[in-house]
Amino acid sequence: MSLLEPIVLGSRTAPNRIVFGPHETNLAQGRAFSERHVAYYRRRAAGGAGVIVVEEASVHVTDWPYERCPLASVAAPGWSAIAAACQAEGALVIAALGHSGGQGSTAYSQMPLWAPSRVPEVNTREVPKSMEPGDIDELVAGFAAAATAAVEAGCDGVEINVGQFSLLRQFLSGLTNQRGDEWADRPALARRVLTDVRSAIGADRVLGLRLSCDELAPWAGIVPEAGAELAADLATDADYVTVVRGAIFSSAATRPDGHVDPGFNLDLAGLVRTAVRAAHGDRVPVIAQGSIVDPGQAEWAVAEGRCDAVEMTRAQIADADLVAKLAAGTPERVRPCILCNQTCIVRDARNPIVTCVVDPRTGHELTEPEPAGSTTAVTIVGGGVAGLEAARVAATSGAAVRLVEAAPTTGGMLRTASAGSGRARLALFADWLDAECRRLGVEIETGHPVEAAELGDSSAVIVATGSVASPLSVPATKAAVVLTAAEYLNAGSSLLPAGPIVVWDPIGGPIAVSIAEQLGWEGRAVTVATPDNIVGNELSRSGDLAPANARLQQAGVVLERRSILRSVKKGTVVLEDRFTGAQRNLKAAVLIDCAHRLPDEALFRELDGSSTGTVVRAGDAVAPRTVLEAVREGRLAVAALDGSVRISDGVPMPRSTHH
Ligand SMILES: Cc1cc2nc3c(=O)[nH]c(=O)nc-3n(C[C@H](O)[C@H](O)[C@H](O)COP(=O)(O)O)c2cc1C
Ligand code: SF4
Repeated sequence: MSLLEPIVLGSRTAPNRIVFGPHETNLAQGRAFSERHVAYYRRRAAGGAGVIVVEEASVHVTDWPYERCPLASVAAPGWSAIAAACQAEGALVIAALGHSGGQGSTAYSQMPLWAPSRVPEVNTREVPKSMEPGDIDELVAGFAAAATAAVEAGCDGVEINVGQFSLLRQFLSGLTNQRGDEWADRPALARRVLTDVRSAIGADRVLGLRLSCDELAPWAGIVPEAGAELAADLATDADYVTVVRGAIFSSAATRPDGHVDPGFNLDLAGLVRTAVRAAHGDRVPVIAQGSIVDPGQAEWAVAEGRCDAVEMTRAQIADADLVAKLAAGTPERVRPCILCNQTCIVRDARNPIVTCVVDPRTGHELTEPEPAGSTTAVTIVGGGVAGLEAARVAATSGAAVRLVEAAPTTGGMLRTASAGSGRARLALFADWLDAECRRLGVEIETGHPVEAAELGDSSAVIVATGSVASPLSVPATKAAVVLTAAEYLNAGSSLLPAGPIVVWDPIGGPIAVSIAEQLGWEGRAVTVATPDNIVGNELSRSGDLAPANARLQQAGVVLERRSILRSVKKGTVVLEDRFTGAQRNLKAAVLIDCAHRLPDEALFRELDGSSTGTVVRAGDAVAPRTVLEAVREGRLAVAALDGSVRISDGVPMPRSTHH
């Protein structure tokens, strides 16, 4: 079996074995699918995805887990448009259906949460209502009605969510089902829903089952062996089973970041496939999921029989053309998902729409400007992410591009950051940008710090000079040893004196955590000091907050919370308690300062006024931020040279900022 071979799913055949799995996007308008959804899915179907599983729709009004969560009763027009758009490209379209039960939210619905039993939800701490017979009848009818509506709208089938985030899984599990009635038979409700949905859609449509086969809570939850038996049982009515893991205690484990190995669920999928095949032969294919981001691993998993197909969700959020590039025999051209979880996770207080740090067009398919391609020649100063993306986009649109970088290699701060613990994948994107630029004929010169005078006669210059370290924010004596995060990451431990290390983190992002963790594993005495109540405060958005704190503890790192840095002396760091003002001295041979950086504006300021050509700046040279902004502004800078977006003070301004 090969990844690009067709696969039979019940009555339908998908053109290949790569699935775009169901995920929240926040692209809905109200609770209906929007034009943006259509564009988002059409782009992946056009890029070759074999199966598109549309964002889950709630089957009942009691389920409103996030503001723009689609609702099945108003989903038909959207399903219809998505199905028409994607089927025209050759993909199968499956509507995901579910109810989040006790894992939902009452903030929007203003109704009690439905759950099998009154087990308080781990994250919201809310006590749900134990469902009564009438509630259960409504739920089952809701699934059947939603499934009917989806197939009548033109979808090839439906996928029933019994995964990490679902009411049906809550009934399956000893963690949440403590009932004494007929539903104490835990699989009974999932069986009934599957049977009723099958009757509703008939044999001519696909019925998929998304099942958590390991709840990562062995004291009462579903364990892998039981999960495999359950899958075989529930597959009686299903045309495929997608194997996922996780339950109420482990939402971060469903789509972990790069600290967990890619393909972490493949053994579980293999176990389930063996059980399903023993019961049903090869009638019910098994689809694997879980950080499958490397095409080589996907191909291996299918060839070795761990699964029959793979979900590559984030991989196709990062590169909509993944399948087309594999089909063309150019896997090296696939833009890599770096498993950062920085912008594809949308369930946070800011309510952002789905996008991707390596492809900011994701989620913005209808508004992102494409450079018109009228620029003929451009010089780009700076070979970090912004400069490389600008070079790539300009070269794609036909310009002659020269890129000059002061450092010996391209990749800028992204490459620097990739030296931190668990962050190696970041360098893949720098490598990819560099390789694409070279393939497109960009003239790349490294080790060349550019002077303004060299650029005098250039008609178009993009300044992507990145950032410089900010001065330490507190007094330090001459003899104190202070390194910036970048200095440490670029040089490794060679610059560190013997003795205890204090890592100062006023940001709460991934950098300080990765440095402290790495030094802890190396056996150094390390303390992280932060003004926040919790170390790595900002990591909640990527799902890494709890895992990061667990790793720090395991690496033996001491955490100093609610602490303000006051001064640094030789051998000592002075911290102040943020609440009491009490000061204390920590022994420290070196302080690693992980503070914000500042834009490197020198070249832009010199050119601004002296240059006769157009000068645009992008990325950290404007304001040091993340990879996302660097990529987005690199693209926009090219559009600005073409005149397709406006420039203000050298900064390209997007045409539309609507949410
Ligand atoms: C933004 C986002 C939202 C997701 N939401 C859901 C969800 O609501 N239900 C679900 O079962 N899986 C959800 N997932 C998990 C995906 O369906 C998929 O299983 C997961 O991303 C792991 O696959 P991947 O590693 O190929 O990305 C979500 C994933 C992402 C990235
Ligand atoms: S934001 Fe990061 S994890 Fe998410 S799809 Fe993009 S690269 Fe992958």
